[in-house]
Amino acid sequence: MDIEELIRKLDLSAKVRLLTGADMWSLPALPEIGLDRLVMSDGPIGVRGEQWTSADPSIALPSPTALAATWDVELVRRAGRLLAQEARRKGVHVLLAPTINLHRSPLGGRHFECFSEDPHLTGEIGAAYVEGVQEGGVGTTPKHFVANDFETDRFTVNVKVSEKALREVYLAPFERVVRAGAWGVMAAYNSVNGTTMTEHRTLQRDVLKGEWGFDGFVVSDWTATRSTEASAEGGLDVAMPGPSGPWGEKLEAAVREGRVSEEIVDDQVRRVLRLAHRVGALRSADPSPSAGAADGPGRAPIDGTALAREAAARSFTLLRNEGGLLPLTGVRSVALIGSAAAEARIMGGGSAQVFPDRVVSPLEGLRARAGVEIRHALGTDPRVRLAPLTGRVRALFLDAGDEILAEHPLATTEARWVGSLPPDVDGDRLASVELRIRYTPAVTGAHELSVAGAGAFTVTVDGETVFDGTVRLPEGSDPVAAFLAPPEQRVTVALTEGVPVELSARHPAGAFGGMAFVAFTLGHADPSPGDDALIAEAVRAAADADVAVVVASTTLEVESEGFDRTSLALPGRQDELIAKVAEANPRTVVVVNAGSPVEMPWLEQVSAVLLTWFPGQEAGNALADVLFGDAEPGGRLPTTWPLRETDVPVLDVTPVDGEVVYDEGVFIGYRAWERAGRAPAFWFGHGLGYTTWSYDTIAVTGRTVTVAVTNTGERPGREIVQFYLSPPRSPGEPDAGRPARLLAGFDVVDAEPGQTVITTVTVPERAFQVWTAGGWATVPGDYTVEAGRSVADRRLAAVVPVRA
Ligand code: BGC
Repeated sequence: MDIEELIRKLDLSAKVRLLTGADMWSLPALPEIGLDRLVMSDGPIGVRGEQWTSADPSIALPSPTALAATWDVELVRRAGRLLAQEARRKGVHVLLAPTINLHRSPLGGRHFECFSEDPHLTGEIGAAYVEGVQEGGVGTTPKHFVANDFETDRFTVNVKVSEKALREVYLAPFERVVRAGAWGVMAAYNSVNGTTMTEHRTLQRDVLKGEWGFDGFVVSDWTATRSTEASAEGGLDVAMPGPSGPWGEKLEAAVREGRVSEEIVDDQVRRVLRLAHRVGALRSADPSPSAGAADGPGRAPIDGTALAREAAARSFTLLRNEGGLLPLTGVRSVALIGSAAAEARIMGGGSAQVFPDRVVSPLEGLRARAGVEIRHALGTDPRVRLAPLTGRVRALFLDAGDEILAEHPLATTEARWVGSLPPDVDGDRLASVELRIRYTPAVTGAHELSVAGAGAFTVTVDGETVFDGTVRLPEGSDPVAAFLAPPEQRVTVALTEGVPVELSARHPAGAFGGMAFVAFTLGHADPSPGDDALIAEAVRAAADADVAVVVASTTLEVESEGFDRTSLALPGRQDELIAKVAEANPRTVVVVNAGSPVEMPWLEQVSAVLLTWFPGQEAGNALADVLFGDAEPGGRLPTTWPLRETDVPVLDVTPVDGEVVYDEGVFIGYRAWERAGRAPAFWFGHGLGYTTWSYDTIAVTGRTVTVAVTNTGERPGREIVQFYLSPPRSPGEPDAGRPARLLAGFDVVDAEPGQTVITTVTVPERAFQVWTAGGWATVPGDYTVEAGRSVADRRLAAVVPVRA
């Protein structure tokens, strides 16, 4: 049956119903036309599903900066297919991913969730992701369209950006993934040049749907829709979540009263039904060629754990390796230092969170190596909030008379029901949620307990109340701060080694207007001898070991959603710890476990720096693989890494009078560093492997560039050959409005020792164009194309002549 016929069968109210969430994550079923409920879920590194807890686990791949650091479109495509497999397993039709905003400033809170600072790299990685997921019959929504490159005041901020910068930089990756065939796009919270994105007619209707021929659906970011008519007419197709919101009855009335034409509603419905057909949720239509592709004949299921491990190792970026300390050989003892060594930060915070059923910490991964003694020392713990307890947790749903309405098991003491409650909980009767865990202390002393969340809490130990009060959010917090950056209340309790206690935390809860919002954590910390003693102990462990490996990390308070970073420094006393460990053992490796750049004041004092990003659930296994040389660190920086925050050319993310002005134009990332004549700690594209390469020859035919490289080392290796294009310069105009050079292509090559491989890349036509008042214009002249190992390490050059 064709979609037009189905639209004719629906009355206005059914059509409008289809355009707003039936709940937090889905669009309603319309059985009269054979349409199933359409379920959406966050990614991007897994598929969280309709719950926000460990009760509904998902694979957790490395975070987007890590995926981009692989520069490996084949790998990312496979990751996409794995995500589609996860989505189908969990009944999800649309993955709310990938995030393809850019690394404009390293202070951006969701920097870890965006691929890179370069529109070409982001576009290529984003397209591979979209293609991989959709090959599995699951939709994607590249987000957040557009200029949502920081978090401060994200709901209201107006980004002022030139048409040229929009086209050449911020829209470019969206254009790439839309032309690759994305089935959805998510409209951002922010405004661009005075219009909020959910109402942005020029960008949504004219550019996205008109010029680029986008035939998918535009979904609002969650609660981003603020108007009825302006958003419907501005090109938005679906307002999430629901069922309440500015559409529904209000949109129906607007159509009945002639304020919005029914043709608009028909087009919105057409786009939703097209999506439903593509993902196999429209049963009255012929099966779409894509639906079911993931588990179709001849396609073996992807082993998620193996792929998570492979992707992590390939993303690890070796920034420094003095004296070839890595890979470690002949090492008998390792002092493994840091809180993240025992509890890895495997992902960033916010809506990007998923819940893997298993996480391999660096400590576990390294301890699994035979023949090497691993001694762990905490050193210092930079986390501001206490970590949840893990184990057999009972979540009790209680009514006003303390009668248990339902009970659910959890793996951690984190209560998270956002949007909907478990189906067996009656929201109207629910009065509170209580977490209970039986906990056996490993040490005697003053333990700390905490509740993180907003509102009233009661905490008990063996039935005795140790806290009963209210925890308040600071004034002016982000509307979802109670969830994303909750305040914390701590209490100290005396516990005895080996003597189990019953811990509980209770919080009033309910479902308001059908929407549940339960979010709190019961935290715990062992008695601590204090940081000075811990650092001293780590230094002793380092001095006694063959090698010291310090895992340094950012925290949930640093890299998350709803707020930006306030500093690029590693939190807490980690810099001091690293400097002291390096003094005690010159063979010190620093593993940087962060999704975005951090300052490294100790850089020259340590032998090696390995950037592991947010590595996903196989963190520890991949780390062992790379440290001991079973796998090569395959990553190259997708973002320029500053030495000091004050050097960063584009840093500011704080709105002034409600605005952030992108007055640097097209000059972000390496383009800005080059223009400013400043040297970062490490340039875009940098990363060392375990072998060496020679760049032998370069040849150009038309726009196609062919390069030969040879593995000159002693082990098999993988190289990312990068192509940079320098536009011709007009005399007297040093900038000519164009960056000195741009990434125009890349390729991943593998070679055995002594082997020469040839790689060919065709520079996209867009690389020779600029945006002008009259549209895209090719700039003729002699372009220089250079092949190299980073934007600053270029080995071969040739000329590409472009005629008018
Ligand atoms: C985020 C989106 C996310 C959505 C649903 C928003 O706050 O900005 O990236 O997909 O929530 O969780």
